[in-house]
Amino acid sequence: MKNNLLLRLALILMLLPTLGVAQNDAEPYTINHGPYLQGLTYDGVIVCFTTSHRGFSGVEIRRKGTEQVRLCRTSKDGLFEADNTLNSIHIEGLEPATEYEYRIISKRMLSFEPYKVTFGEEIASEWYTFSTFDPKAEAVTFVVANDIHDDAKKCADLLSHMPLDEASMVFYNGDIMSHYSQQGQPYASFIDVSVEKFATQKPFAVVRGNHETRGHLARQYGDYIHNTRDGKYYGVYYFGTTAVVMLDCGEDKDDAHPVYAGLVDFDRYREEQAEWLKQVVRSKAFRRAERRIVIVHIPPTVERMAEVEQNAKVVPDLMTWRGNAHLGELLLPILNKADIDVMLSAHLHKQVIFPVQPGVVEFPIIANDNVSAMVVRSSSEGVYVKIVGRDGAIKHEKTY
Ligand SMILES: [Fe+2]
Repeated sequence: MKNNLLLRLALILMLLPTLGVAQNDAEPYTINHGPYLQGLTYDGVIVCFTTSHRGFSGVEIRRKGTEQVRLCRTSKDGLFEADNTLNSIHIEGLEPATEYEYRIISKRMLSFEPYKVTFGEEIASEWYTFSTFDPKAEAVTFVVANDIHDDAKKCADLLSHMPLDEASMVFYNGDIMSHYSQQGQPYASFIDVSVEKFATQKPFAVVRGNHETRGHLARQYGDYIHNTRDGKYYGVYYFGTTAVVMLDCGEDKDDAHPVYAGLVDFDRYREEQAEWLKQVVRSKAFRRAERRIVIVHIPPTVERMAEVEQNAKVVPDLMTWRGNAHLGELLLPILNKADIDVMLSAHLHKQVIFPVQPGVVEFPIIANDNVSAMVVRSSSEGVYVKIVGRDGAIKHEKTY
């Protein structure tokens, strides 16, 4: 009997490589990152997470206080996503301004042969809650943090001074990573800490900076970040009477700069966004909004902004960089006519507030430094912006 058992064990060990079983086979099956919410709207959400081993996963969702559960999975071309670890489950058809509960369910896949699939452990997460956005909301509060540069402790410190209970979501305004060069880096840099602080209940969006486009894995960043349902980094969030436009700035230097080795196409990409932006600012939803905020990592600049005394030193310097100058040339003519209340930027690693300059820039541009986060509250009183340092000190507070 004992010999028989040893023989079977030896046979299983011999078979393991052919079954594609990972080296850490003996470790229990877990949800090892997330869940975190992305792309929340009035009627949908994307739930993201990873499992420790390959599996078959889904999300169960129910209206809070009810028992009827809907199972959501990702399905493409007739096939459910399976035998994977990284998941982003799109859930649609939700009611606006409604509280939901969700949990992850997952089955480990031990083998996946053409005519025989062997499942392993089945797991379920705890139930988490979130609310869909309210199309009738008269006010919204959100948080903006930027230039974290892979420092998860800084991310945690900045978030610790932010009113995450009151906020509807967090916008990470670029350079959250310095470059994407290691597997799992987005988790270590900011996603895990976001999950711990808020992201199981409230979404974040990543408005990319010039640094997130760097590194040999930058082209896979979209596997983790789902700002919009159509999978683009740029887009618009609507919170009732407030519209928030996210623009994807691209690189700071010219596309032909040798450091990019001919691998980038940001001039064309910024032009694509300018064409898209023209449609957005003409749209009913955008015109109907009472307050309009733009978030972009690199502040757009034009020469004439240097006429303002305090900008005389900053702007000429910025104009030597392709990113600022091209964004200025493309975006300002569109946004100057679009009744923008305020633009929120980053990138400079110091606080610079570019004031309204009629005929040049018709809205203030607030570039946050790299050691502070912003609370933004948009209401009938205007757009209130408070900038709080890593130490909790208030560095700027004004209603625009
Ligand atoms: Fe930057």
